[in-house]
Amino acid sequence: MRNNIPIDKKLTDSILTEMPFSDIGDASIREIVKLANAVEEKSGVKFLRMEMGVPGLDVSEIALEAEIKAFKSGVASKYAPIEGIKPLKHEISRFVKNFLDIEISPDYCFATVGSAQGSTALFMVANRTDRNKRGVLFIDPGFPVQKLQIKVLGYEYDTFDVFNFRGEKLREKLEKLIIEKKISSVLYSNPNNPTWISFTDEELQIIGELATKHNVIVIEDLAYFGMDFRKDYSEPGKPPYQPTVAKYTDNWTMLISSSKAFSYAGQRVGMLVVSEKVYKSRYPDLKRFYSTDQFGHSLIYNALYILSAGVSHTPQYGLTALLKAVNDGVYNYRDDVLEYGERAEAMKKIFLDNGFKLVYDNDLGEPLADGFYFTVYYPGMSGSELLHNLLYYGISAIALQTTGSEHSEGLRACVSQINETMFSELERRLQLFHKNFS
Ligand SMILES: Cc1ncc(COP(=O)(O)O)c(C=O)c1O
Repeated sequence: MRNNIPIDKKLTDSILTEMPFSDIGDASIREIVKLANAVEEKSGVKFLRMEMGVPGLDVSEIALEAEIKAFKSGVASKYAPIEGIKPLKHEISRFVKNFLDIEISPDYCFATVGSAQGSTALFMVANRTDRNKRGVLFIDPGFPVQKLQIKVLGYEYDTFDVFNFRGEKLREKLEKLIIEKKISSVLYSNPNNPTWISFTDEELQIIGELATKHNVIVIEDLAYFGMDFRKDYSEPGKPPYQPTVAKYTDNWTMLISSSKAFSYAGQRVGMLVVSEKVYKSRYPDLKRFYSTDQFGHSLIYNALYILSAGVSHTPQYGLTALLKAVNDGVYNYRDDVLEYGERAEAMKKIFLDNGFKLVYDNDLGEPLADGFYFTVYYPGMSGSELLHNLLYYGISAIALQTTGSEHSEGLRACVSQINETMFSELERRLQLFHKNFS
């Protein structure tokens, strides 16, 4: 007999049947948000939300003031340039030099409506460079929305779970897939959403060498820039630098999100940086869809143009001010986001103390960093069952099966919406869960 379940099962299940998915394990992040909102509203029980990576910290005053100043100066009545405003392009270029140790002209630095738009635009061009190539290879697990982008665009993709192919083992696996599946681009996030493993320089070198050898474009997704807190990458112009594939190939593109490192998710402004070589590359097959055969021109003046015709002015000014402060060493973004690592450490302990186990439990034999996400399972339950059962305890997450993980038993837990004041409630609910299921 299961006792003291916080939320009525019948109520939860009736809401669940109204949802558009047949398996809760297939639900997208936003669908889980909708589901948890509905259960919360009908039951009156506040959920502990771990499904969505919404920053749980305040935006810096530096950005706020810059946005207000820009708004008052009258920029809102004008269209912003598609490639981004000049001062932002300048600060992005400085940022890439200061924190990745890569020289890049502002000409190849662009503003996008979040990294989400940057990846969409890149897919639209990178997947069309060669009519004989199939599409993108995701080094997974990964961010489910990017697969949705591919699906909505009508493209093909391939994927593999990298956990068993770390270090030198990555080379054979990656090369085999690049050749067999006729891959045009490779995408990974580093640190990795959801597992929080981080690729080493050795692994990035392998990816870079294979990209050069097979003329594949790398999409390096730095959504969690500098957030492998085992190292401090936050001193401008000083090592250690955030590791990057750009050290090992000219075939690189980068997505640098402002959402997490700068808690700027709501303003939907991200950075897209493309190597000069990729920008200037010419692919006759692009002409099937674009006005030119040049990669960069197609990317900015065709793909980005049709997606939103630029990014709103004021967030660009806000981000410019933030980057300038970070580049000048006046503001240290890492100090603000370090809190996520502390939350992850505490939350993992609560889960592990109550019968849960980590799915991805080490980083090349080393302990995992503590950061924005971690992955858990409860022995004997599939990911879908676990997600479903946790709903009765007012806890929401997403199933790893939506991330390209081989581990269908696992869930991704995000720490951003759980602050210290909620730890005791998390502990209480998980103790109850464990008591009822063990
Ligand atoms: C790995 C990864 N890439 C990209 C994004 C999208 O970021 P943005 O808010 O800049 O669109 C996210 C957001 O959670 C993410 O986790």
